[in-house]
Amino acid sequence: MGKDEVPTAKATNRWQPVCQKGELASGQTVEFRIQRPHADPGTMPLTGFVFLHGDEPRAYVNQCPHLGIELNWMPGQFMDADKLFIQCSTHGALFKPGTGECIAGPCQGDALTALDLRIENGEIQIRFQE
Ligand code: FES
Repeated sequence: MGKDEVPTAKATNRWQPVCQKGELASGQTVEFRIQRPHADPGTMPLTGFVFLHGDEPRAYVNQCPHLGIELNWMPGQFMDADKLFIQCSTHGALFKPGTGECIAGPCQGDALTALDLRIENGEIQIRFQE
């Protein structure tokens, strides 16, 4: 590519710090705004959430595949009463925490959108693929 050419493809978003892994006590969920520097102006903002599944952090876009709305109605509350599955507060869809797969509800067979996740010096970072 010449020095005056402008890349036409959207660049990949950068890694975004979320929290320290040590801040994620078992059963705790941290919500965050997903930074989307390459999104078109006027694009609806997206949030995400991260939690520990066993000892491994998992992060998903906070968007139910059924209607595209946020899963939770209370801050940080994503799990069902038994703390076994992620549950959509609108119509009760249940999702496996490890994979995001919907196992019951109107979007059964669909899945939450997983976020890229890495740990740098104990800090959890996520990346959203546009
Ligand atoms: S909006 Fe989530 S199950 Fe309907």
